[in-house]
Amino acid sequence: MIIYFTGTGNSLVVSRKLAEKLNEPMMSIYEAVEKDLSDTQRIGLVYPTYMLDAPLAVRELVPRLRLSKDAYVFIVITCGAQTNNAVWTVRRLLKAQGVAIAYCNKVRFPDTAGLAYHRNPNNQVWKLEKYAARMDEIAEDIATGKHALHYAGMDPLGCLMRVPALSEKAYLPFKPLANAEKCVSCGLCEKICPQKNIKLEDKRVLVGEQCTYCLRCVHYCSHQAMEVGGKPTQKAFQYHHPEIKVQDLYRS
Ligand SMILES: Cc1cc2nc3c(=O)[nH]c(=O)nc-3n(C[C@H](O)[C@H](O)[C@H](O)COP(=O)(O)O)c2cc1C
Repeated sequence: MIIYFTGTGNSLVVSRKLAEKLNEPMMSIYEAVEKDLSDTQRIGLVYPTYMLDAPLAVRELVPRLRLSKDAYVFIVITCGAQTNNAVWTVRRLLKAQGVAIAYCNKVRFPDTAGLAYHRNPNNQVWKLEKYAARMDEIAEDIATGKHALHYAGMDPLGCLMRVPALSEKAYLPFKPLANAEKCVSCGLCEKICPQKNIKLEDKRVLVGEQCTYCLRCVHYCSHQAMEVGGKPTQKAFQYHHPEIKVQDLYRS
């Protein structure tokens, strides 16, 4: 079973490739917390690095997963560059439930956070050329039941993100807000927000307090009406994995 969390689709593509190559079913982490997976013998977690760590949603939901202590558990991270504490944190959360991870690895993708600080993710699409070969390697490792913890170490800089005053400051530029002048009240952001954190009320887009900063709403808004850091969103900077359609994200 492959369990995934994705913002713009990079981690969904990795999840799909692994599911196909390993002949495993897959589901989002939101569905997985509703299931009893204690009889499942091979479990993979696929999610991105956000702000030097696992996404807030993943950190909240992993402790609610019901997994077997004997399962072969693996983690595959998607990231712009580094896993930082994305494996380390989840490994600790799983360990607290008596579940050990056997294997972890990473796949690099365009950095979807770039949009917030004027680095165009679309200038990094060269990373997409490498990912197919990388997926072959990782799937082969998992298929043969390999035990290897790559990129699982602790990143001290990432630990600073646990200090509330610092993390609040760091997350602020990634908090999406709707620009009322550009918004046409189509409701797409409400439909695709993985956290169900966006509501359309009286044609106004309201963003709640459960944001996991995935920037999905910002990258997919066809009117560039969702903005981060108080700056206009440029169409040229909007990115999503070319194999993902917005409909793929409705339920995940
Ligand atoms: C808010 C935010 C913060 C990010 N922080 C990091 C980071 O600290 N390190 C890194 O290598 N990539 C970082 N990224 C890039 C993502 O990990 C990368 O683009 C990933 O493939 C996105 O996957 P997704 O499309 O499944 O959300 C960040 C992306 C976002 C949206």
